[in-house]
Amino acid sequence: MYDKVPTGLDRKETEVYRRLDPARLPKHIAIIMDGNGRWAKRRHLPRVAGHRAGVTAVRSTVETAARIHIPALTLYAFSEENWKKRPKSEVGFLMSLLSRYLKAEVPTLNKNNIRLEYIGRQHELPEDVQERMAWAREATARNSGMVLTLALNYSARSELVDAFRSMVNAAAQNGGLAHLQIDEDTVGRHLYTRNLPDPDLVVRTSGEMRLSNFLLWQLAYAEIYVTPTLWPDFRGLHLLEGIAEYQKRERRYGGLNHGDGHAPLETSSALHERKT
Ligand code: FPP
Repeated sequence: MYDKVPTGLDRKETEVYRRLDPARLPKHIAIIMDGNGRWAKRRHLPRVAGHRAGVTAVRSTVETAARIHIPALTLYAFSEENWKKRPKSEVGFLMSLLSRYLKAEVPTLNKNNIRLEYIGRQHELPEDVQERMAWAREATARNSGMVLTLALNYSARSELVDAFRSMVNAAAQNGGLAHLQIDEDTVGRHLYTRNLPDPDLVVRTSGEMRLSNFLLWQLAYAEIYVTPTLWPDFRGLHLLEGIAEYQKRERRYGGLNHGDGHAPLETSSALHERKT
């Protein structure tokens, strides 16, 4: 379908990329990385070995997404529930893995023009991790390519609670609660993701069919792609396969059947006007 292939894709990635329509790539892909523990268990390794192997998957996925010019990629790295429900030693390992990843990866992020962002209640993370996160964000802040957002200590319900609190505080400072206007745009402007488009595609690895408290507001119209591949085995190639599947789907946004596979919201009203 497309002859010009971005540089840096390997042979198999190139094969899948050629089947894609570059004009209809998702603008924002969100990924629920799952299956690290099962990957390790199958190899009779400790769970943390799965997390360590998961970093290789992160690297490959991020690089491929940037190479094909996906504007935004969001990775669900640690949920609020992860903190509360996992042994302290595993949480500690994940924290140090994140810290090491950030330190090691900043040069590659810069080379690929990737800007790093975070969503989640960062202030509850260990201070040294917060410092490393701030450093990495600052070190990549001037990049103008893909925005890589890491969801850390993230929960969609907490995000909504924080958004409602922020709306009330803003109204209180701007003339009082009588001026509080609540509509979808206002809520969107107070979410952690206020500077990002809603994801068009959400990928979940390891075969689980749940959203697990991830971007509940923002995923309202997203296509869901679930792959049985466990996260440590996931690579850029799998991401491209997910995008190929996404492009086969017809996005309707609650509207009519448009047949072109990529109808924006306005199209349903345009159709309606033509009929009436
Ligand atoms: C889910 O697998 C994975 C996580 C909770 C952690 C994700 C972390 C990484 C991929 C590595 C570090 C991340 C970055 C951004 C450097 P699980 O442990 O829930 O697997 P299971 O369901 O098989 O037990």
